[in-house]
Amino acid sequence: MSDQLIIFDTTLRDGEQSPGASMTRDEKLRIARQLERLKVDVIEAGFAAASNGDFESIQGIAHAIKDSTICSLSRANDRDIARAAEALKGANRARIHTFIATSPLHMEKKLRMTPEQVLEQAKQAVRFGRNLIDDIEFSAEDGYRSDPEFLARVIEAVIAEGATTINVPDTVGYAIPELYGNFIKDLRERVPNSDKAIWSVHCHNDLGMAVANSLAGVKIGGARQIECTINGLGERAGNCSLEEVVMAIKTRKDYFGLDVNIDTKHIVAASRMVSQTTGFVVQPNKAVVGANAFAHASGIHQDGVLKARDTYEIMRAEDVGWTANKIVLGKLSGRNAFKQRLQELGVELDSEAAVNQAFTRFKELADRKSEIFDEDILALVNADGASH
Ligand code: KIV
Ligand code: ZN
Repeated sequence: MSDQLIIFDTTLRDGEQSPGASMTRDEKLRIARQLERLKVDVIEAGFAAASNGDFESIQGIAHAIKDSTICSLSRANDRDIARAAEALKGANRARIHTFIATSPLHMEKKLRMTPEQVLEQAKQAVRFGRNLIDDIEFSAEDGYRSDPEFLARVIEAVIAEGATTINVPDTVGYAIPELYGNFIKDLRERVPNSDKAIWSVHCHNDLGMAVANSLAGVKIGGARQIECTINGLGERAGNCSLEEVVMAIKTRKDYFGLDVNIDTKHIVAASRMVSQTTGFVVQPNKAVVGANAFAHASGIHQDGVLKARDTYEIMRAEDVGWTANKIVLGKLSGRNAFKQRLQELGVELDSEAAVNQAFTRFKELADRKSEIFDEDILALVNADGASH
């Protein structure tokens, strides 16, 4: 089994499903560029059949992004799948992600279909998708609450039709780490052709265990793809958080023995960009990206860290993009320092003219205020009408 873990980011699809987090096409493209900088393996850019706006966002991202695979979600029907393939035309690497619910509750009450009908529809969807694109992911929605015997039949059948990734979501965040890990392991053992596909985990955070469940899916279950979002953005209590799961794999390589491609020094900028774009504030004590994640307040801790950083730090702040020696911005600061801070804050202005305009306003403010804080800079770029 490979020791490389695929990081599948769904900030622009499941993250956007968060009430109040909808993003414009330009905002999505800017975040996709940051995800590419992070070296995310797969970017789920949206749900092409959901709206013309989503279709166009996926199209734009598919053309602009070269290093990550671009993916569109689609229900398990020919129309959605064809629309996804259309939006992905021109991508260097494209993936269609098709899904149908497999739990008794969802099949009976939501889909009003029998298990046999669901099985047939799943097979037909993957077969249709495979005629358009080679890289097909199949998700069993509410997979964790499904009957393992039935789910194994569905998975075996879709792998036989050519699905290359199998995702087993904990759609409602009901799982417990050990149970979820064993659920995936048991499924893999039940499915005779299981090693013909990469297994993936997709966990929601309703009980605060999305990261722990995803890691158990990898460690116990043998999954090799994790679906996650920046800042854990997502429906209800959110999804597995990219920054936490990636830093857990990196920091505890001794335990997991796995690698990820992620260039972690872009994590903080990605977190800020998503927070500023959606208006979802990151709590100060949030792991990895919260303002206090690397702050030491008590005397004993400060003393320890000054003597040896390892006493109270298990990761390096600079490894995830926090600047160690923060330059204080004021009226004597130059344009380069200003531009550098914009970058650290995840702000991308559209042109050099826009940077100049923001810099002029910054200088005006610095004449009135001795120290300029990050909040001041964000306020002035917002006042300039910049999007970031
Ligand atoms: O949570 C979920 O089940 C999903 C699927 C569509 C993958 O987001
Ligand atoms: Zn989801």
